Amino acid sequence: MKLNPVHTHTWVPLTIQDESESLLKVVSAEKEFVTDDEGNVWIDAISSWWTMIYGHRHPKLLSALKSQSESLDHVLLAGNIHEPAEKLSKAILELTNFDYTKVFYSDNGSNAIEISLKLAIQFYENHPDLKPRSEFLVFSNSYHGDSIGAMNVSGKNYFNRIFSELRFPTQEFPAPNCMNCPWGKKPTDCQTECLSDLERTIKQKEYAGIVIEPLVFGANGMLFYDKKVLEKLRELATYTNTLLIFDEVFTGMGKLGEVFAYQKAGVKPDLLVFAKGLTGGVLPLAATLVSKFIYETFVSKDPYKAFFHAHTMTGNPIACSVGYAAVSLLQETGLSQVKTLETKLKQYADAFQKKMGKSVENVRVMGAIFAFEWKEPVASDEYLNPIGKQIKNSLRKFHILLRPLGRTIYITPPYTISDASLTKIFSALETSLSEFLEPETD
Ligand SMILES: Cc1ncc(COP(=O)(O)O)c(C=O)c1O
Repeated sequence: MKLNPVHTHTWVPLTIQDESESLLKVVSAEKEFVTDDEGNVWIDAISSWWTMIYGHRHPKLLSALKSQSESLDHVLLAGNIHEPAEKLSKAILELTNFDYTKVFYSDNGSNAIEISLKLAIQFYENHPDLKPRSEFLVFSNSYHGDSIGAMNVSGKNYFNRIFSELRFPTQEFPAPNCMNCPWGKKPTDCQTECLSDLERTIKQKEYAGIVIEPLVFGANGMLFYDKKVLEKLRELATYTNTLLIFDEVFTGMGKLGEVFAYQKAGVKPDLLVFAKGLTGGVLPLAATLVSKFIYETFVSKDPYKAFFHAHTMTGNPIACSVGYAAVSLLQETGLSQVKTLETKLKQYADAFQKKMGKSVENVRVMGAIFAFEWKEPVASDEYLNPIGKQIKNSLRKFHILLRPLGRTIYITPPYTISDASLTKIFSALETSLSEFLEPETD
């Protein structure tokens, strides 16, 4: 019997609550595959929301989980410390070549963003020479999570429109769009024209931070943009004493071919947030990395300077042990796997572009991301563009799990995906998209 979200006990998220929606009941997973209750094997082409970068149930991650559970399951991190948190923090800071001094744990990307916003605001409060600031500069196509603070620094869109009354002050600017530059520029002759409004604004008033997803706006369309934007933001942030916050919840842990996107861009933010890949798709975990000059303003005997933020399961030892195994794998094999995957995706993308011709736009690859737009009028709420759902359903016939973002179709497979599965994904894409081609006219 097909399950629908109205009949389950569980409220299935980001799913229309209607009996006509059908749910896939998943019973097991291995590598890039998940198996449903009828025994069908599906390819998880978006790595279960970008988390399981080494495939499902990687033996090293599972072994870390098992061995940690034999000694310490959990202890509150307030007033205590434990080896799994310390080991992981040191490994993470090493990944950044000690660009950061402290790792603040939480259990999802939204919370890690909340932490970065609160740290930024309190940094100004604590700082002996700077005035308090609490307003953020944000971008239209950004997505930073669904909790209220994270939603507030995301672009205003269909997801958060109902809650606009709750918005604390932000200034929103159009997201840089290097794929279709409104000024008709290429990165070589770009003068970051798209940032001139932001430049004027940031020089007129004091802001607590600029929040941005570096190099790729993920959930709002997999929009790639040039590092020049980040260089200019860094320059403006430094000039105005504004904190620069990079949200690498998606791009961190190798997704773009370097450990972090900030390293690929060569632009260091003051606060760095990452999650998803750090979990290996096994247990919830997220991290906010803090620069030394920010942390130092919290070092004090005065309790009013302390940062009052924690979640019950913060720094859970089992999640940290799995995270440590995920970081070790990244260094051992992960990064080279992403680079190989990127080369293969580019070859598939070229062939795909040739076959699909003008029906697809902006075919693009960066690291482990392949994306394109189906040539279809842009909807007012692009996420709801019906073509996305039609393409997703069509791919289901081939047992490929996708979640298009409106007319933007993308895959973010695990770094370890096999050639056979990649071939299957692209051939399923080509066959199912041909259903949507307009008949040729003379
Ligand atoms: C860039 C970015 N930031 C924040 C989040 C929120 O993370 P979470 O869903 O773990 O709260 C996401 C989730 O997709 C994301 O892509």
